[in-house]
Formats: sequence, structure tokens, C-alpha cells
Amino acid sequence: MDKLEITGGIPLDGEVAISGAKNAALPILAATLLADGPVTLANVPHLNDVTTTVRLLRRMGVEITFHDGKTIEIDARNASRFVAPYDLVKTMRASILVLGPLVGRFGHAEVSLPGGCAIGSRPVNLHVGGLRAMGAEISIENGNIRARTKRLRGARLVLETATVTGTENLMMAAACAKGESVIENAAREPEVVDLADCLVAMGARIEGAGTDTIHVQGTDRLTGAEHHVMPDRIETGTYLVAGAITGGRVTVKKTRPEHLDAVLQKLEEAGAGIDLGETSVTLDMRGRRPRAVDIKTAPYPAFPTDMQAQFCALNAVADGASAITETIFENRFQHALELQRMGAKLRIEGNTVICHGVDALAGAPVMATDLRASASLVLAGAAARGTTIIDRIYHIDRGYECIEEKLAQLGAAIRRLAS
Ligand code: EPU
Repeated sequence: MDKLEITGGIPLDGEVAISGAKNAALPILAATLLADGPVTLANVPHLNDVTTTVRLLRRMGVEITFHDGKTIEIDARNASRFVAPYDLVKTMRASILVLGPLVGRFGHAEVSLPGGCAIGSRPVNLHVGGLRAMGAEISIENGNIRARTKRLRGARLVLETATVTGTENLMMAAACAKGESVIENAAREPEVVDLADCLVAMGARIEGAGTDTIHVQGTDRLTGAEHHVMPDRIETGTYLVAGAITGGRVTVKKTRPEHLDAVLQKLEEAGAGIDLGETSVTLDMRGRRPRAVDIKTAPYPAFPTDMQAQFCALNAVADGASAITETIFENRFQHALELQRMGAKLRIEGNTVICHGVDALAGAPVMATDLRASASLVLAGAAARGTTIIDRIYHIDRGYECIEEKLAQLGAAIRRLAS
């Protein structure tokens, strides 16, 4: 298993280009199952989760051509096996995103039930309940979700929790149901909007994506289209924290600053100078130590759970005491325990991490447990005295494109140790 070695203490300085968003690319790849012509996607990030989705679609009979590293043409006209098997779903729970499109277009799906994961139990009851309300017959047998229907019909779907992939699954299913669907308490994340934009380019009739009420008028067929995947707001935030935690100056390019309001606000509170361009953000820490910031995660547009671990690392070396409260997932503090091994003074109380910033962390061997936890350990390593070796970085490769190259470009002393 590959590891990352990073020797800390260098203020990061320079520019980095942001890749396409993982959490937009994955639902959009699934949405191509709905089209009866080729869909061309640009700005698709080169990530393990994208590779897994491509493998999943190919197993269904979907034809996929890579034009260059980041542009993919997907033709689902010959899709004929409507199955997402356990061996793929267990490596990537976002495989559940094929459920809505398969039932919506082909009236048939067999998707292995994703189990819990490192950050929480993560049920999919709202995905299943919504499809049932649209008329799908669904049984859960031997760890598989089996869904059948002649044709879905539009329905009013009130989500108990504003689930991101649940909203996406139901929006895709509703796009080719008979009649109108209304999704209430829908997730408002920008990735939901990007998916809706792609579906609209394919001929879907969707209004209200980005608000908590989405109206979908079902259509008989969706067509091929072209779409450019939005930039990754979590990757953007992660590189900005890299600048802040090392007292450096970092410009992130090819991004959408308007997706990062809550994160930028916290970085300013931490003492960073922030300068916004149309598609760029420059963070300048001017060599100063960050100030500790209190955070509470919540659905968009509030502070994202996917940035919580990175701010834990920031608070670990910040001036002052802080509380970070996680409200989305019940077990998303595994990075905190690894940060303790690097000298962080923190304790977990229920769903809150209380932290007293220390002057410096000390490099140590640590273990990545999930994607964002891994990012927080890389950031901690960039700030720490000495060398940190991060094991199990396959988690990072699921969601950060070329992380060691991008950090090296900013001046970090980082390298990949191949196993
Ligand atoms: N929930 C239910 N029932 C459901 C679905 C969700 O109770 O049927 C609960 C979850 O247990 C959780 C809350 O609703 O407490 C919100 O979870 P959500 O469904 O929104 O999460 P998700 O759709 O599974 C996506 C991202 C995650 C991100 C969350 C929250 C993708 C592929 N994944 O997950 O991304 O943390 O939204 O913003 O879009 C990551 O990129 O590292 C990552 C974990």
C-alpha cells in the first residue's frame, strides 16, 4: 500500500488549479444511464472513485471512451445488465447513485445495499422510500436492493433529512417518470445543481435545484448532451487550509468562490487575508499563526462536513481553544485520534472536538481512515516539525487528484512511497 511522506514547516506559496468535483462527477456519470445518445463530460477528475464508477457502468454494457485525461464520452444505449454488484459497491457507496437512473429508465435494478462506512451508518432508506412512493416495487434480500416497475410515476417526496445523494437519485428517477414530482426538503448542495444542469442539457425539465423544493416534470426520453463538471469546492477549501496552516500564501484557480462562503468566513476568522477573483481565491496568512475557530457542520450553505477534518488540523496548531461540532455523521472524528499522536491537545465529547492549539505538532507515522481524515493528516504533516508518514492513502486517491504533485507545486516537501 502506498504511503505519503511529508516533512513539515514550509510555508506554502504558489498557485494550484482545482480539479472537477468528485461529488458532482459521480452522480453525473450515473445520470448518463438515462440518455439515449452519447453524453460528453469535460473536467472529469482522475480519481479512484471515478474509475470505479466507469468500471460499474462498463459492466452494465455502457460504452465509455476517454478523449483525453478529463473528457469522457459515455454511451448507455446498449446498457443491458442493470446490476451494481457487492464487489464494487463495497469499495464505493456512491454506487447507490445508479439506482434511481436504472429504475427510472429501465424499470429494473439490482443494487447491492451499501453498508456503513468509517464515518457513520449512512442508511439509504430515503432513496428507497422515495422510489417506492413513485411506484417502484422494492425488496431487500440477501444484501441487495431489488427494484422493479413498469414506469415510475411522479410523486410528492418529502425528505425527512436533506440527503445529498438521496436528492440526486430521486431527481434522476423523476426525470423520466410519468408526470410531475416535487422533492421537498431537498439538499441544496452545488453538486445537486450541477447534476440538474447536466440533466436539463439532456432534456430533463427541472426547476428549483439549489433550493429546498425541486420540481421535476418527467419526460419520455432524455438525449445525449455535453456538460462541464463544476470545480471541487472541498478540494478548493483543502488547499486554502494548507496555506493557512503553514502560514503561507496560496492561490487556488479554476474554482467557484461563491460555493465556499462558510469556509472562507472561517478562514478570515482564523486570521487569513482572502482575496476573491471570479474563478480564483488567494489566501494570505502573512506568516502568522492561525487563530482557533469554532465550527458546526450543517447542510449547504452552512459549513460542510467534508471540511471539518481539515479545520480540526488547523485548530490543532491555532492560537486558542475551539469546539468543532459534527452534526451530519456520527463517527467522523477518527482524524482527531491520529492528530493526538502528532501532539494535538484535543478531546472528543459526544459530537464535539474540544481543542487547545499547540505551538507545533510533531511528525509521526499516522493512518488514514477515510478521505477527508486523510486530507487533515496531510495538512497536519505540512505544518508539523519533522516528518509524517501517512499510511493507507488509497483513501486520498479516491478524492484528491494528484495531491502530492499539487502540494509539491506549492513548495511542500512531500513524496509518495510506493509499496
Ligand atoms: N441519511 C438518512 N437516510 C438516507 C440518506 C441519508 O438518514 O436515506 C442521513 C445520513 O445518515 C446523514 C445525513 O442523512 O446523517 C446526510 O447524509 P447524505 O445522504 O447527505 O450523505 P451522502 O449523500 O451519502 C454526500 C457526499 C459526502 C458528504 C455528504 C454530506 C457524495 C458522493 N457524497 O454523501 O461526501 O459528506 O453528502 O454533505 O456526494 C466525501 O466526499 O468525503 C463525502 C463523504
